[in-house]
Amino acid sequence: MAEVRLEGIVKDYGSFRAIHGVDLDVGDGEFVVFVGPSGCGKSTLLRMIAGLEEISGGRLTIGGRLVNEVEPRDRDVAMVFQDYALYPHMTIAENIGFGLRMRDWKKRDIDRKVQESARILQIEPLLERRPAQLSGGQRQRAAMGRAIVREPSVFLFDEPLSNLDAKLRVEMRTQIKRLHAMLGTTTVYVTHDQTEALTLADRVVVLDQGRVVQQGHPLELYERPNCRFVGEFIGSPQMNILDAIVDRTGSQTVLRVGSTSVPTADLPLRTGTHVDVGIRPEHIYWTSLDDGLLTPMVDVYEPLGSDTMAICDLEGQEVTARLDPKVRIRPKERIGLGFDASNLHFFDPRDGARIDAG
Ligand SMILES: Nc1ncnc2c1ncn2[C@@H]1O[C@H](COP(=O)(O)OP(=O)(O)OP(=O)(O)O)[C@@H](O)[C@H]1O
Ligand SMILES: [Mg+2]
Repeated sequence: MAEVRLEGIVKDYGSFRAIHGVDLDVGDGEFVVFVGPSGCGKSTLLRMIAGLEEISGGRLTIGGRLVNEVEPRDRDVAMVFQDYALYPHMTIAENIGFGLRMRDWKKRDIDRKVQESARILQIEPLLERRPAQLSGGQRQRAAMGRAIVREPSVFLFDEPLSNLDAKLRVEMRTQIKRLHAMLGTTTVYVTHDQTEALTLADRVVVLDQGRVVQQGHPLELYERPNCRFVGEFIGSPQMNILDAIVDRTGSQTVLRVGSTSVPTADLPLRTGTHVDVGIRPEHIYWTSLDDGLLTPMVDVYEPLGSDTMAICDLEGQEVTARLDPKVRIRPKERIGLGFDASNLHFFDPRDGARIDAG
């Protein structure tokens, strides 16, 4: 096993800078997930670690060894791609053993390794089939088998589950997590799906436009996003952002949201300043109109069984609330919504930076 260290890593495609000096440590045995919107540079960063993309600047070390100029096959990493990249004319067993044959392993040893990985991934009955005779999830497991048999120091995954349907994605997610618990191999995993990131990662790295915007334990990012971008990206359904104006009545700070005033902890902002107030749908509860901090109109209501999503209109601003399914509400009805002020997040409307309440 090995740790992966990125120091000031830069990637230029001609005059376009795709990665702007990324510093990052992936600990030995750690499961790190790169997450971010399409085009933010996740694959580019991963492919540089794999050696499939030249590094324009900075230092990359794997297990303490500088590998900037080292060939992919000599980096002791194994990559699993979104499209599986299995050889169609080979059986699954031949696909899984391919890397070992290239390394001149003996047939008997290859067979043993292939069997062992097939058992771990529960694809033993499929070993004599060809990729076209497998389902998407089975193919993905075969691709993982090919990575496992090489016993690399580092696993690299680029959106390995994005071609699978929703149910299978959840199953494979659990399988990948189990696999990591069993093998303990250092893993870097790329996805644009924040749920996948939160459920798999020891540490999540959020990227935006070729830069790391925040990294930390999944709950740390959820509970204390350092900017509006992370606040909105992490968590589902998305965090509500309300435009409010800071006001004060005596010593009490209040937020004016339209014609409503909501008491809050003090903010290091002058009276009259605009602030973006973030509140997660799951932190909003239903209450009477009299007790409601906000009293919006229900626009759309979605009963999901486990909870009910109420998408409301608050004087032109949209507020989504995740409510107890027992609450009966109707479209076009005015309802009372409450929340704990400690669940509010504040962001600077100019640059999205987090503002801490006093
Ligand atoms: N070969 C290339 N030549 C020029 N620009 C490239 C090349 N490959 C990637 N880019 C650009 O670099 C940026 C990062 O691309 P990358 O593929 O790393 O994004 P990503 O985060 O993996 O996105 P997605 O979620 O869509 O896979 C994008 O703006 C992309 O257009
Ligand atoms: Mg990509």
